[in-house]
Amino acid sequence: MPDDRDTRNYAERPLSDNATIPHLTVVTHPLVQHKLSIMRDKSTSTSKFRQLLREISMLLAYEATRELPTVNVKIDTPICEMDAPMLQGRKMALVSILRAGNGLLDGVLELIPAARVGFVGLYRDPETLQPVEYYCKLPSELEERWTVVVDPMLATGNSSAAAVDMLKKAGARHIVFMCLLAAPEGVQRMKEAHPDVRIVTAALDEKLNDHGYIVPGLGDAGDRMFGTK
Ligand code: URA
Repeated sequence: MPDDRDTRNYAERPLSDNATIPHLTVVTHPLVQHKLSIMRDKSTSTSKFRQLLREISMLLAYEATRELPTVNVKIDTPICEMDAPMLQGRKMALVSILRAGNGLLDGVLELIPAARVGFVGLYRDPETLQPVEYYCKLPSELEERWTVVVDPMLATGNSSAAAVDMLKKAGARHIVFMCLLAAPEGVQRMKEAHPDVRIVTAALDEKLNDHGYIVPGLGDAGDRMFGTK
């Protein structure tokens, strides 16, 4: 078992423990936790799930974009002139891992409408069990952008690590991975593959089950947001 894996059980473990997992930020805000609990409940409808995902994505984005650079721009307030800090919105890229990543995308785009958007599609090869790329469309000049990768479920971490590989090959240097739920296995995998990538999540759950689902989790995020089975 990896050294820094938190072996306390789910109920005992604090939601945020940056002392032991420094590259992981768990957003413990009560609003986020409340919305997440409703999303976890299997009786929550597709439309409610989608609405909550959009709302929670904005709250997670607040944390994921904490280190975005700003530039001072001269403006006139009604009182005087000032140098006011502004985001370099065009210098930001959002990358959605298909298909479930799209559920997190809209809320973030509402906050940062000038961000450029990319998409990465991966499937799991049934024989090798390794992620295989089937789609990749990324914004230009990734090396100059701050990139936020969105995917609701960090489970094994294999597809997330592969997506970040693709982004780095395309030139991305400042990458944050934003998800709704993370499993310890996925956090560890990402830490080994990409120790420079900060993970922002609403919760660190207990484990993966034998089918690769996060426990307690919320089921298949794509199915729950799109109403598929
Ligand atoms: N993907 C999901 O949608 N749910 C899980 O629990 C794990 C991976």
